[in-house]
Amino acid sequence: MGDRNIDALLSEQRRYPPPPEFADANAGPGFYEQDPDAFWEREGRERVDWFTPFSTLREWTPPYAKWYLGGKLNACYNCVDRHVEAGAGDKVAFHWEGEPVGDRLAVTYADLQRRVVRFANTLKKIGVGRGTNVAIYLGMVPDLPVAMLACARLGAPHTVVFGGFSADSLASRINDMGCQVLITQDASWRRGRPLPLKPVADEAMTNAPGVRRCLVVRRTEVDTPMTAGRDLWYHEASAHVDDDAANCPCEPMDAEDPLFLMYTSGTTAKPKGIVHTTGGYLVGVATTHHYVFDIKQSTVYWCAADIGWITGHSYIVYGPLCNGVTSVLYEGTPDFPDKDRWWDIVERYGVTVLYTAPTAIRTHMKWGPEFARRHDLSSIRLLGSVGEPINPEAWVWYRTHIGGGRAPVVDTWWQTETGMILISPLPGVSTLKPGSAGRPFIGVTPSVVDDHGYPVTPGEGGFLVLREPWPAMLRGIHGDPSRYLATYWSRFPGDYLVGDGARVDDDGDYWLLGRIDDVMNVSGHRISTVEVESALVDDPTVAEAAVCARPDELTGQAIVAYVTLKGGRDGSRQAVATLRQHVAEKIGRLAMPANIVFTPELPKTRSGKIMRRLLRDIAEEGTLGDTTTLADPSVVEEIRTRAAAAA
Ligand code: PRX
Repeated sequence: MGDRNIDALLSEQRRYPPPPEFADANAGPGFYEQDPDAFWEREGRERVDWFTPFSTLREWTPPYAKWYLGGKLNACYNCVDRHVEAGAGDKVAFHWEGEPVGDRLAVTYADLQRRVVRFANTLKKIGVGRGTNVAIYLGMVPDLPVAMLACARLGAPHTVVFGGFSADSLASRINDMGCQVLITQDASWRRGRPLPLKPVADEAMTNAPGVRRCLVVRRTEVDTPMTAGRDLWYHEASAHVDDDAANCPCEPMDAEDPLFLMYTSGTTAKPKGIVHTTGGYLVGVATTHHYVFDIKQSTVYWCAADIGWITGHSYIVYGPLCNGVTSVLYEGTPDFPDKDRWWDIVERYGVTVLYTAPTAIRTHMKWGPEFARRHDLSSIRLLGSVGEPINPEAWVWYRTHIGGGRAPVVDTWWQTETGMILISPLPGVSTLKPGSAGRPFIGVTPSVVDDHGYPVTPGEGGFLVLREPWPAMLRGIHGDPSRYLATYWSRFPGDYLVGDGARVDDDGDYWLLGRIDDVMNVSGHRISTVEVESALVDDPTVAEAAVCARPDELTGQAIVAYVTLKGGRDGSRQAVATLRQHVAEKIGRLAMPANIVFTPELPKTRSGKIMRRLLRDIAEEGTLGDTTTLADPSVVEEIRTRAAAAA
């Protein structure tokens, strides 16, 4: 986060007490006074159904926690079957809105159950059972939550790979997890055109020979290559498959059995497979969803993220469905066919809770409030934000233009690793401050410490750490326990290192200040500098590369790459385009540098380490225009001068 934003946060004085409409909120006065263990014990017993009740709340042997020990449950049963059994089969689980206008579907809990059972039985036919690892590479189609829940039903851990990731990224995740089955689709709709996914999956599978079977969901009519013996159309494979839940029981899973892996970028080139388990995760996400978004029977909830990220797992699929809520699921982009598409959706379904990211809010801000004004947004009662620090200006715009000047905005802080929201205001309790994520949730014990691990005085910035375990906490990094220790537990032994800077004010409210490590946050997507660097040096023309982030008004941060070409050659505009494309192919378009600065040398210390701070300083001056190229021989001053000149 840039210094300008931090200054804006420090001087923010606006305050918004809980509105009277939230007098009967799920979390009211006294909420924070509850005993954490009693709270999580009660939520564990009441919020989910267990086949065998748990006997022990938690076991904490730092840095490993276990929750709800001895309990047996099934996440799919909790998200689907129990609602049907309780008579809510006719309630809409989600209103699916396809990208092509008019392409929509209301899926009730009873429909969802039939779809999930059919999917699970189809998976069984191709050998998926308890412990079979499954990769899912789908866009925002109804089959995405269905496939996840079908895996959960069978006890098959899944990993969902965001549709924007490249074949290489997909293959490395499949290989790391040892997936035997891949679920994908022919193509997904992207601004009116089909964007092929299956060819990307094919390329990935050439480097992931462990995949025995590939199930392909048909979404468009594009020609799709199929490999005999390996690939199956889902609609064909499932055609005569039983969808009666009575014949497809939910596998009783141990509370600590893995539910899924979610890969996320760390400070090395290799993404980490974050392990989430069944019991603690489900209780954690359903509980926080209930209180933070003040969920009622009548709530129409829309989290406008992609299910391919942790936000979608926790707060589109598992949390809301466990709570039996009616949600919206949207396939497309906010500006197709026009920039009012989101507001059309809010009006059509009467959305009461909207949860999105600051980068999306800033994009709508740039387009102007007139698109929102075309629609009746009066159904909205609560707004949420996640993914990066929200600047007060965007916060206030969101409340004013989307929330009708009345809806509280909850800025929720959490991570892939935390699984659930850890710091957030509660709409019936908290006095909101634009730019602050409010207070830790019950049982969450963060601290802000200095270089030596000592708590800083209130108001001062420092490293955010977490002390006590929470139910949805990661259970490690798949296949790499030493990396788990090194990444999170070695800097301040005994404390979980978050990787963000933070400050606590006199009221005990938290202000997140952005990443303090080599992780960048572009449009709420987490990307490591090293990952982009290794994609760049993988290009045969590149000798060396260093990557850092600069502040960007829309995307929060944007990626700047400093590149030395082999033979000290100058880079051309063509070279810029080629390298950006290369990064898109290695990682995905989300990791493409906004700027590439060519330099015959990178500034280094005497021991040969690249001086990233220096490069970051240059980038943060905010003077780099789009796709800057530089070719001057002398190093830092020259880069700086050129960067400034290119503004
Ligand atoms: O830097 C923080 C930022 O996003 C990081 C986690 O990214 P990821 O694992 O991809 O999960 C994103 C969705 C939960 C954090 O380390 N971040 C997330 N939410 C906020 C935030 N920064 C400030 N305020 C937030 N509300």
